[in-house]
Amino acid sequence: MRVAVTGGLGFIGSAVLRHLLSDIDEDTPEVLNIDRGTYAATTGAVAAVSHLANYRQANVDIADGEALRTTLEDFEPDAVVHLAAESHVDRSIDGPGEFVRTNVVGTFEILQAARLEAERRSILDQFRFVHVSTDEVFGSLTMDAKPFDETTAYDPRSPYSASKAASDHFVRAWHETYGLPTIITNCSNNYGPFHFPEKLIPLMIIKARAGQPLPVYGTGDNVRDWLYVEDHARAIVGALRRGQPGETYAIGGNAERSNLEVVETICDLVDEAEGDSVGGRRELITFVKDRPGHDLRYAIDSSKAQRELGWKPSVDFTEGLRRTVDWYVANESWWQPLLDERYAGERLGTSAGEARR
Ligand code: NAD
Ligand code: DAU
Repeated sequence: MRVAVTGGLGFIGSAVLRHLLSDIDEDTPEVLNIDRGTYAATTGAVAAVSHLANYRQANVDIADGEALRTTLEDFEPDAVVHLAAESHVDRSIDGPGEFVRTNVVGTFEILQAARLEAERRSILDQFRFVHVSTDEVFGSLTMDAKPFDETTAYDPRSPYSASKAASDHFVRAWHETYGLPTIITNCSNNYGPFHFPEKLIPLMIIKARAGQPLPVYGTGDNVRDWLYVEDHARAIVGALRRGQPGETYAIGGNAERSNLEVVETICDLVDEAEGDSVGGRRELITFVKDRPGHDLRYAIDSSKAQRELGWKPSVDFTEGLRRTVDWYVANESWWQPLLDERYAGERLGTSAGEARR
């Protein structure tokens, strides 16, 4: 099998590549990592596999249709796993244009390039296109509502989730109209190694270690359903190998936590890791102005994926968070250059209303 993975220098794409190239229970595919190398990309995330003979990398922008077509023609994939995206909600509030360009136009271009390549080699029916999407397309749950599943109506509320919802609709249209065998996964919040330090969990670990204020948006009561990134990678590969064309799969960790609970637990784990008395770092928690349009709660019912993909989450949240804190403590050489050169930990996403593309 030859698999083109987009966004493989990012947090989840790199976990997919590490899984695809090290899973001894399955045939190892030839992979091509298509990544433009934005601020969110690091080669460190694929260092464990990038030396392998069946790994290749192409520095291509998915919004550049011509370059994509040449790249796929040259690689001749049997499948595309599409993860490349602008992924941070706060950045989408400050500058939505890039989200439309990559997430909407880029998804259109990779769909079209995949379709043309499959048709060129007369393998359309056997081809697979896995589109990695998010639970945020379903909007915001009240505290007592039942979790999202595959039947939930779309109701995106941020520029990021609107761009992902649009991309999901394009994927569905390429299946219905052109017969491209597409599979969509909608997953909840991931956490784990190589998570860019703009996101809640890595940002709080790094700030807590440094003894800096820990900015919790609003009241801290917003709830997310957390999934360890390697479990998500297994679900995506499960969808590639066992998913039904035209189907969607909701993926989640069964681990709903309020943001305040998450940050408090991180404080205690960092206290422990640093050998300090547990509880001290909770003093750093600072409630700050809320994110505009902040979704209250996400939660996923993943029973269809568990039934049909033979998948289930394997790392529980307490264990996963401990592993993650330990990983950040041990891997300062990965994240410190990112703070020095790309993002210093400042507040993002407060410029709603300021005109900026
Ligand atoms: P990330 O921001 O860590 O990585 C994105 C990668 O895509 C980067 O390596 C970047 O260089 C690449 N990229 C961005 N624009 C590109 C372009 N125009 N051309 C080529 N490459 C480009 O993102 P992530 O957290 O790993 O998310 C991956 C996918 O999973 C996204 O589609 C996201 O919507 C989805 N998702 C993320 C989560 C989560 O919790 N992080 C949950 C559910 C779904
Ligand atoms: O649900 C899946 C989505 O999860 C993915 O599609 C996105 O790509 C991914 O970034 C993530 O989106 P969130 O907005 O939920 O993640 P983030 O880490 O930005 O924020 C998690 C929660 O923590 C959210 O309620 C906002 C809050 N938060 C975040 C930051 C960065 C804070 O309270 N303080 C912070 O400093």
